[in-house]
Amino acid sequence: MDQVLKNQTAIITGASSGIGAGVAKSLASAGANVVVNYPVESSKPAADAVLKEITDAGGIGMVAQCDVSQEAQVIRMFADVVAAYGTVDILINNAGLQRDAKFDEMTLDQWNTVINVNLTGQFLCAREAIREFLRRGLRPDVSLATGKIICMSSVHELIPWAGHVNYATSKGGIKMLMQSLAQEYGDRKIRVNSICPGAIQTPINRPAWETPQALNSLLTLIPYNRIGQPQDIGNLAVFLASDLSDYITGASIFIDGGMTVFEGFATGG
Ligand code: BGC
Repeated sequence: MDQVLKNQTAIITGASSGIGAGVAKSLASAGANVVVNYPVESSKPAADAVLKEITDAGGIGMVAQCDVSQEAQVIRMFADVVAAYGTVDILINNAGLQRDAKFDEMTLDQWNTVINVNLTGQFLCAREAIREFLRRGLRPDVSLATGKIICMSSVHELIPWAGHVNYATSKGGIKMLMQSLAQEYGDRKIRVNSICPGAIQTPINRPAWETPQALNSLLTLIPYNRIGQPQDIGNLAVFLASDLSDYITGASIFIDGGMTVFEGFATGG
């Protein structure tokens, strides 16, 4: 891959597995210094394995522990990264989880866990990133933008999701977080966009693809007739983080094999 992100540092939250791991590998192969964030000590071996794959392929990076829902930990991670690489150019606000339940059975803990990680975590990381972008200012030799934030949203910022109200609500919130930040900081040349994945084959949705029956039923929702891979998201993240997309800000980009064209209507309505 072209080294379009050379001399830029990217923090990828939740990069020890799933989409985050895929995005970290793609950004590293595009030349970025990547920070493979992981949430808790037990996910360190997985983060180390992602970093090893990156460095074995000639990439540059480090791992960094931080629970994105904890303000002090987020502030510390950004300080550590600035100490290591001088600044932060790209934030991939990716960490996210599901705690599914029927709404009338949903506990406050299930609600809070999802909102705290998926939405408050994106607030805390975006705030630190923007503070660092403003402190550093434009580096014209490196990028046309002062900084780039990419929020990992979901098709569920658009498609309501029964049985997952906490998750869908968090993604709807991310849409407005992203667009309001794009509006507030556009004049400082900070670009903020969202990636809205459909079904990507990762641990978060294992039950939806692990048996042939489940996968067949999932594919009835996807016109392009395949499940997505983390690399699909990685490719888009490289584009959105690079100057190739310099005129794109405040956008939600859906990457879902057509899930949002509502396949159920293919045979009439
Ligand atoms: C969810 C997955 C789901 C996909 C499509 C994602 O945001 O995390 O569990 O398969 O949306 O419904």
